[in-house]
Amino acid sequence: MTTSVSDVTTEAAISAIVAAHRHQRGPLLEILHAIQSELGHVPKEAVPLLARELNLSRADVHGVVTFYHDFRDAPAGRTTVRICRAEACQALGASALVGCAEERTGLPLGRTSADGSVTVEQVFCLGNCALGPSVEVNGEVLGRMSAVRLRSILDEAVTS
Ligand code: FES
Repeated sequence: MTTSVSDVTTEAAISAIVAAHRHQRGPLLEILHAIQSELGHVPKEAVPLLARELNLSRADVHGVVTFYHDFRDAPAGRTTVRICRAEACQALGASALVGCAEERTGLPLGRTSADGSVTVEQVFCLGNCALGPSVEVNGEVLGRMSAVRLRSILDEAVTS
């Protein structure tokens, strides 16, 4: 297998992040957040690298990455829609929003469209419970979301 320039760049970026956080106690979570912040996702090749650098097993690192829904293993779409599925929003119609999103994009939650235009994910509480159901679009929390409004957002996302 050959190593591409982007592999080297990714590895170098991860190594720099590890070096910056190594001094912290139990730095794995901080490092994972920093990787996602810098690279937009936690690439699969980060797992063995972090295991080696932090003297952990690959299973330990993989377990943490997959436990937290915030970490994604591929870049997000140009528009990222996160639908809250925690209790308060669930009681106010979050399931209908999920159905709307899946129907409009043709994707299950957690996936990105093949053209990279949109990612739809679930999240468990956006801190906007009183104004649910809540949805976050590219970091902006929107309350009292309706299927019609969500559909309009997704229409715009998939055509841009
Ligand atoms: S339960 Fe949805 S924002 Fe808190």
